Amino acid sequence: MLDLTGKTALVTGAGSGMGLGIAHQLSSQGAHVIVNDIVAAKAESGAEQIIARGCMASASVWDVTDADAVKASIGNLEDSFGAIDILVNNAGNAGAVDMVQAAFRDSVPENWRKFVDVNLYGVMHCTHAVLPGMCERGWGRVITISSAAGRTGLNIGVSVYGAAKAGSINLMRHISQEVGRHGVTCNAIALGLMDTVPEEFARHIIPSIPCGRLGTAEDAGYMTGFLASEEAGWITGQLFCVDGGAAPF
Ligand SMILES: NC(=O)c1ccc[n+]([C@@H]2O[C@H](COP(=O)([O-])OP(=O)(O)OC[C@H]3O[C@@H](n4cnc5c(N)ncnc54)[C@H](O)[C@@H]3O)[C@@H](O)[C@H]2O)c1
Repeated sequence: MLDLTGKTALVTGAGSGMGLGIAHQLSSQGAHVIVNDIVAAKAESGAEQIIARGCMASASVWDVTDADAVKASIGNLEDSFGAIDILVNNAGNAGAVDMVQAAFRDSVPENWRKFVDVNLYGVMHCTHAVLPGMCERGWGRVITISSAAGRTGLNIGVSVYGAAKAGSINLMRHISQEVGRHGVTCNAIALGLMDTVPEEFARHIIPSIPCGRLGTAEDAGYMTGFLASEEAGWITGQLFCVDGGAAPF
């Protein structure tokens, strides 16, 4: 069940946080996981941690927002390791810089682009690079890590981030309709508040989470591991909330 032996999975932004948890989960199901990150030390340490557990991983350093780098790097990866069977679009937030929350009316237009670049263009670049091969081979899984901010309005100063995350959800829905007959599924996961957010911010929100705690990288990994599996082959174009019950509809 949920065996990924023989599959190659690419997880973007997998050097830390949710992406690393997802990479651990996919590798524990038997996949060779390519740990991408914009920060070389993170990609290398993520791959080393997986290998230390007796699973298969390789590090790959590039920026998902750089279309040329994505195309060239994925081409090189496929030459070295074979086809990418599973893509997890995880790199997000504000990209390589810290997330600064601000009400839209107070936001600076020069700061908008970084959210759209990493959370929407990054997803488009990576998905566009792997999709033709997946369709040719008749099997593929594209899973995009989105956010509660991408499915509903929140008064926490993340409107541009949320707009980009909403775009990534609908991108998966549309592509799913185009590639379903080729054996490729495309889904999105809307994570709730996870344990990588600052404690000061989380403290006020935890009481409103029905499960009573923040989400973990393992929580993100389990849902991704299922959607990546053979068993999830009839599930596509969907958004799954992994949020401790914060969005019960
Ligand atoms: N943390 C949360 O509460 C939360 C909630 C909802 C959704 N999410 C989403 O989950 C995903 C992971 O979040 P996280 O909190 O684990 O993030 P994180 O910031 O802890 O880790 C993200 C990783 O991506 C890498 N990265 C950043 N920009 C990159 C780029 N351009 N190319 C390649 N790698 C890049 C970073 O170096 C980092 O290692 C993101 O898409 C985020 O939007 C997070």
